[in-house]
Amino acid sequence: MQKNSSFDVIIIGAGAAGLMCAQLTGARHKRVLILDHSDKLAEKIRISGGGRCNFTNLQASPECYISQNKHFINSALSRYTPWHFCELLNQHQLSYHEKTLGQLFCNQKSQAIIDLLDFLCQQAQVIRLMSTKIFDIEKTTRGFKLETSQGTFLSEALVIATGGLSIPQIGASSFGYQIARQFDHNIITTAPALVPLCLDKPQLDQLKDLAGVSFFSRVSNEKINFSEHSLFTHRGLSGPAILQISSYWQAGEAIEINLLPEESIFTIIQAQRSSNKLLSNFLGGYLPQRLATSLTKLLGFDPIISQLNKKQLTQISQLIHSFSIHPCGSEGYKKAEVTRGGVDTRQLNSKTMMSNQIEGLYFIGEVVDVTGWLGGYNFQWAWSSAHAVATSF
Ligand code: FDA
Repeated sequence: MQKNSSFDVIIIGAGAAGLMCAQLTGARHKRVLILDHSDKLAEKIRISGGGRCNFTNLQASPECYISQNKHFINSALSRYTPWHFCELLNQHQLSYHEKTLGQLFCNQKSQAIIDLLDFLCQQAQVIRLMSTKIFDIEKTTRGFKLETSQGTFLSEALVIATGGLSIPQIGASSFGYQIARQFDHNIITTAPALVPLCLDKPQLDQLKDLAGVSFFSRVSNEKINFSEHSLFTHRGLSGPAILQISSYWQAGEAIEINLLPEESIFTIIQAQRSSNKLLSNFLGGYLPQRLATSLTKLLGFDPIISQLNKKQLTQISQLIHSFSIHPCGSEGYKKAEVTRGGVDTRQLNSKTMMSNQIEGLYFIGEVVDVTGWLGGYNFQWAWSSAHAVATSF
């Protein structure tokens, strides 16, 4: 490619949001260049959803996203909905299925989605350069000038789609935040989200026999609660319910876990007062046996049911329905699915994603302070925010 090649739009980041934006913009007859520092295309799509990409969620609505600016999400999400992405897959004969809670997964491998977006980019004559380092971005009177390892490029519009900080080993970087700061944008403090939580040694010692035990739970803090499975690990807790609450967790806070959210253990025991089963075996009828055994160790008693006194019943009920943990941290960006925080949406136009202060500069996808729940919401944000930019040209 020639030095000083010029484009209508340059997109930095060939991930979910960048590819979507590139193909939609190219299809509108704009000359589009997409740059990525990685040698592999859209690695996060490839590893997502256990290799089957949970590409959207039918229940996607603004309440399922965390942002300092709640209403920002409405416009993009309402104009490009989960059904629009399903329609795109239908048009290209890609099939999918719904798991729990509106989560849609590919029947094919995740690579099928990458291939589709790549094909649409080629069809729209998007130029894509991988393994490209961007050294400098300058605002010019007519747009932007980029100095890169593959030459100098000019464009009228610049879209930053460099994602968040999670999984640095596959190309995540803080580049998008640096560019935002360069152009005087505020960054909402970032933190790992949708991430397993760690417990300190005393708590781990108490729960050490439980690694690998999974159970249905309701986890809550003062802000929110989630009813899904939790999983004890060697470092603490994981599983969908824990990943969900991790996005709302602040250091120092406790998290409460209801280990039997759909029943009352008090009522169950009262109804079987004459049982001569040991408490641990009795609880094993309602909870995984290893969990039941550990709970009786924590309680410090394991009598037969008929010998339980009222005080013990209250203690059992409290432990099972209000099991409290005090995470000492999270497993960090290496294990986080997403990054909470990012480019402050109060400085972006919610219809176009354009910066309110720099004409022609756009931010989309995870780099923006919009963080979805677990279950397809983050890809939906990538598609919707990309669509908002493309349709503004
Ligand atoms: P994305 O990370 O996809 O792309 C950013 C691109 O920018 C990358 O290609 C990167 O190489 C490039 N880049 C970064 N720095 C650069 C630089 N300095 N110069 C040039 N290029 C640069 N979500 C969901 O909805 N359903 C799911 O099933 C899953 N599953 C899942 C599993 C795992 C293990 C992870 C880590 C994440 C998920 N997610 C998910 C989250 C989802 O992958 C994520 O929110 C989207 O990929 C975000 O899309 P973006 O395009 O914003 O960033």
